[in-house]
Amino acid sequence: MLMPNIQPKITPIYQTSVFKFEDLDAVQQYFDEPGSRYLYSRNGNPNSDELAAAVNHWEGGAGAVATGSGMAAIFAALMTYCQAGDHVLCAADIYGGSAALLNLELSRLGITVSYVPFEELYDLQAHVQATTRLLLCETMSNPLLRVVDLRAAADECHRHGIKLVVDNTFATPVLTKPLAFGADLVLHSVTKYLAGHSDVTAGAVVAAMPEDVARLKQIGTIFGLTLSPMESWLSVRGLKTMRLRVAAHSQNAQLIAEFLERHPAVEAVYYPGLLAHPQHALATVQGRGLFGGMMSMRLADDAAAVNRFMQRSQRFPFAPSLAGVDSSCSHPLYTSHRALTDAQRAELGITVGLVRLSIGIEPVEELLADLAQALE
Ligand SMILES: Cc1ncc(COP(=O)(O)O)c(C=O)c1O
Repeated sequence: MLMPNIQPKITPIYQTSVFKFEDLDAVQQYFDEPGSRYLYSRNGNPNSDELAAAVNHWEGGAGAVATGSGMAAIFAALMTYCQAGDHVLCAADIYGGSAALLNLELSRLGITVSYVPFEELYDLQAHVQATTRLLLCETMSNPLLRVVDLRAAADECHRHGIKLVVDNTFATPVLTKPLAFGADLVLHSVTKYLAGHSDVTAGAVVAAMPEDVARLKQIGTIFGLTLSPMESWLSVRGLKTMRLRVAAHSQNAQLIAEFLERHPAVEAVYYPGLLAHPQHALATVQGRGLFGGMMSMRLADDAAAVNRFMQRSQRFPFAPSLAGVDSSCSHPLYTSHRALTDAQRAELGITVGLVRLSIGIEPVEELLADLAQALE
């Protein structure tokens, strides 16, 4: 077919599962010259490669893979360094899905886990075993927004010969680039701020070292963790406005956190932008003056009080995800952190009164008015 000279400004969606070859020489070229052609979309596709390159650019890595979800990204990251018989350290303040992956599934493959309390992340002596391979933590923890000193954590990990794997979903590289502080891998639920519009499920892992990129690519392809063309394309589109969105999320969140801090119905507010936040100074430096759009607030420990808030709010629908341009709220005890043990939840303070807010980019006065009437 004669094609006119078409030069789209935006990468088209290569909605194909497979690519054609002229003959055996052509397929041999695919294997001999990596990156010269495409074979099969699970192995690689122009759209998922574009997303991986864009996230890698943001995080300043040696390369990246796009995955089918944030959970797939966590799994790929852990499999990069671990095999049966190995041991993993995980920050006690962690997304419930990460804990579920470690507790319920990787344990069956012979990979064991110990949880490290927040205060002990910079002194791992008591936790490291001969088989320990890595520490998994979040730049800003879900749901209590504790901020990890990544430089100190990376130094401590490397002192013990283990890797640092950072889930940067809450912070985004607009605030913090963990590889620059010494992390070995950084991962995202792209579902959240990177895609940004609550219409995509995706993930990504970025590696500091080229050999880890090669491992990640193999793991992505063989376990079938890679991302579809359409989801990749939507994520790339979202990522183009991330810098602007995260600045707007942060501005709104600061004003809302200050409002909630003064509100008599709110017992505590967890937001790193507040002066009273225990890691405010660290968050200011590590986040380059931005604190992101996520926070949690503690209402009375009474399901009726939480239900009243959820039923009355018009602008914060109870939708157990986060980071969309439209605000929402979630409930860690009932949703994201269900899989933690009772002891883990009690230790962290994840109780019925804890409500997580994802602050959107709507006009802030509308959000403030809605919160005021919902908390009345
Ligand atoms: C911090 C964090 N990491 C990872 C994930 C998992 O991402 P996904 O839902 O895209 O699999 C989530 C999901 O809420 C999360 O909050």
